[in-house]
Amino acid sequence: MDRVIIEGGHRLEGCVRINGAKNAALPIMAACLLLDGPSRIKGIPNIVDIKTQSEILRNLGGEIKRLEDGALGIMFRDGENEDKFTAPYELVNKMRASICVLGPLLSKRRKARVSYPGGCVIGQRPVNLHIKGLKALGAHIETAEGYIHATANGLKGGEFSFAAKTVLGTCNIMTAAVLAEGTTIIENAACEPEVQDLANFLNRAGARISGIGESRLTIEGVKQLHGVDYEIIPDRIEAGTFMIASAITQGDVTLEHVRIDHLGAVIDKLKETGVEITVKKGDTIRVQGNNTYHAVDLTTLPYPGMPTDMQAQFMALLSTAEGRSVITEKIFPDRFIHAAELRRMGADIHVEGSCAFIQGTPSLSGTHVMVSDLRAGAGLVLAGLIAKGTTHIHRVYHLDRGYEQLEKRLSDLGAIIKRIPY
Ligand code: EPU
Repeated sequence: MDRVIIEGGHRLEGCVRINGAKNAALPIMAACLLLDGPSRIKGIPNIVDIKTQSEILRNLGGEIKRLEDGALGIMFRDGENEDKFTAPYELVNKMRASICVLGPLLSKRRKARVSYPGGCVIGQRPVNLHIKGLKALGAHIETAEGYIHATANGLKGGEFSFAAKTVLGTCNIMTAAVLAEGTTIIENAACEPEVQDLANFLNRAGARISGIGESRLTIEGVKQLHGVDYEIIPDRIEAGTFMIASAITQGDVTLEHVRIDHLGAVIDKLKETGVEITVKKGDTIRVQGNNTYHAVDLTTLPYPGMPTDMQAQFMALLSTAEGRSVITEKIFPDRFIHAAELRRMGADIHVEGSCAFIQGTPSLSGTHVMVSDLRAGAGLVLAGLIAKGTTHIHRVYHLDRGYEQLEKRLSDLGAIIKRIPY
């Protein structure tokens, strides 16, 4: 286990290129189970979650390799893997997102056995809505011995309305429906850019999905899907994290390869706190920090609202803003473990239910802190960038799940940050 050490107080300046989106890549990789023929997918980041997903897919017969141009080649040979339909506990417990093989497996192999994902530090995270939606398409599903056992004798299109918006739930029903007989209508579908990217990918492979980006999706089943060349969208959470890195250090950082239209809520809230943001070209954005920021209130919501995956990073920024901010967490009401770690750095944060009250303090101080999950880790790194003295960040393997070469990219911008083994 490594730890990351940051010497705070260094202004970030320069240019950083944003990688492809982890949360688009994971379901798109799983959707390759549905395709006949090889695919080349560009922009897939080199992070631990992608390695885990690759392992899960190899276990299901997938041939996956990095190609010379950096794209990921993925292929499943038709007719050779019918007996492979299990995503085992050893892999699912490394990454809950592996649940997104459920829809494709059920559709293509008519059978799936996927370890039931447990809760995690950000919440209980049930999968009841995934199961309900798949049943609406005719799947037979039981849970036993910690596994979801699903079978389908040919899925049939149907109408399903999600009781609550769920990103991977929508992905699972969409991937189950694309090869089903007839038309499926999904109401109250998640509209996140990553869900849209999956739908666009499937359409490129021959699927017929309409209403992309809206909460009502219509999917006309087709007989077959083919392999494709595709480039996934830039990661809006990685972009948001670097935007706050620039803001919090009073820096001047230009981000390249971003989708400005995916960052509306983040940009608006940063501007409200006093950060200067200039869109330079279609996919380039400049973020200039200020001496003082004002407290703001924010509420995490489904897209196009403020992403829950940016909550910890905003909390770090607001810890030293003038006045009292309130963060309300509407997606994962318990996702506040980082608040206690930020308090160890001198932040004045009080959590009550799904709200965090942050009274800005003039400065933070470096100390030892522990990462509980990927985005909490990002928040602590940001706090470390401005803390007085040295911050030691433990359990950084969480960061490696979702950020490629984070220390190198921050140090290229002027941060004093390094990783050391214990
Ligand atoms: N929910 C249910 N039942 C279900 C499914 C979800 O009650 O069957 C609830 C959840 O407990 C939660 C809410 O619905 O309260 C929304 O959860 P959602 O299903 O949308 O989350 P997810 O699909 O499991 C994805 C991202 C998360 C991100 C959330 C919310 C991936 C791989 N993961 O998770 O990303 O926080 O959507 O936007 O796409 C991260 O990248 O660090 C991360 C945690």
